[in-house]
Amino acid sequence: MHKKLFIPGPVEVRPDVLEKMSTPMIGHRSKDASALQRRISDNMRKLFYTNSEILLSTTSGSGLMEGAVRSCTAKRAAIFSVGAFGDRWYDMAVSNNVPADLFEVEWGTPTTPEMVDKALATGKYDLITVTHNETSTGIMNPVEEIAEVMKKYPEVVWCLDTVSSAGGSKIEVDKLGVDICITSTQKSLGLPPGMAICTFSEKALERAKTVEHRGIYLDLLTLYKYIQKKDYQYPSTPSLSHMYALDYQLDRIVNVEGIENRFQRHKDMAEVVRAWAREHFEVFPQEQYLSNTLTNIKNTKEISISDLNKKLGERGFQISNGYGKLKDKTFRIAHMADCQMEDIKELLGVLDEILGF
Ligand SMILES: Cc1ncc(COP(=O)(O)O)c(C=O)c1O
Repeated sequence: MHKKLFIPGPVEVRPDVLEKMSTPMIGHRSKDASALQRRISDNMRKLFYTNSEILLSTTSGSGLMEGAVRSCTAKRAAIFSVGAFGDRWYDMAVSNNVPADLFEVEWGTPTTPEMVDKALATGKYDLITVTHNETSTGIMNPVEEIAEVMKKYPEVVWCLDTVSSAGGSKIEVDKLGVDICITSTQKSLGLPPGMAICTFSEKALERAKTVEHRGIYLDLLTLYKYIQKKDYQYPSTPSLSHMYALDYQLDRIVNVEGIENRFQRHKDMAEVVRAWAREHFEVFPQEQYLSNTLTNIKNTKEISISDLNKKLGERGFQISNGYGKLKDKTFRIAHMADCQMEDIKELLGVLDEILGF
């Protein structure tokens, strides 16, 4: 039996979107491939409220995260981490021989503008990475406040991980001043895993030109130059199947559901899950920084999360245990992508039944 996924990626994918993955192949050097890739970029610009170039990568989001820190750090990177995925960005920098420092906080708390200001005031850094929505803790960082601080440091390239929020939460890339905004297909965009997407600003472009040893496959400058020269075609053979599905899904998001409606739907679902969590447990992150796309719930009743998931599985549902050191201490319910309020209510009803609420 297929289990309906309420885990923070991969997510349930609509059958019509899945079907697009099996569209017959075309040559990746054809005019049709150029048009497909150009359409995707145009719609991604709308979703990200940006005029920057869009880069696609046949990797998951981690590929572009690694590419961004390696391609665009000339001096030293300040990595702000609020959980597992921020920590991983630091490991990526170190493993690529990119000079970097890690700025951590207690899990469940945010990266503050003050922290960013203090680090950048040293003058040591020319790139920062911030996690918009930390899937391991369920926190959404105050990027608007961080953006205010960033105005003081126009030379610093800002990389933002929106892997689990883009498509489910409003991220105004140009207004924020984000230079490289990165996401993956398998979360709020509602597609299978296998592609990553990022914005690439003029500032990031100029920076990359000054960086040596950027690698090849994940070098953002190589990708940028190639798509400019070759009408949106990519240097290596991309996953055309994902592109078909992404093109179709972006058209649905932008022209059928509507971007603002989609964000509102995510907020509404988040409110319902949070209310359920507060009634029976507690939400894990600080209240003013809750994610719109997933809720991380403190296991205050010390129930067995694996037993719970087993029982849910028998009924055709799946949620997530806590991530890493939060295993069994928290559990996570995702409310992202094309999940609807009825799905959430159905899940919460089944949870009530199993837990005897
Ligand atoms: C916040 C966040 N950043 C980065 C990643 C890594 O993305 P991917 O699995 O697409 O490489 C994930 C994956 O779960 C994530 O949730």
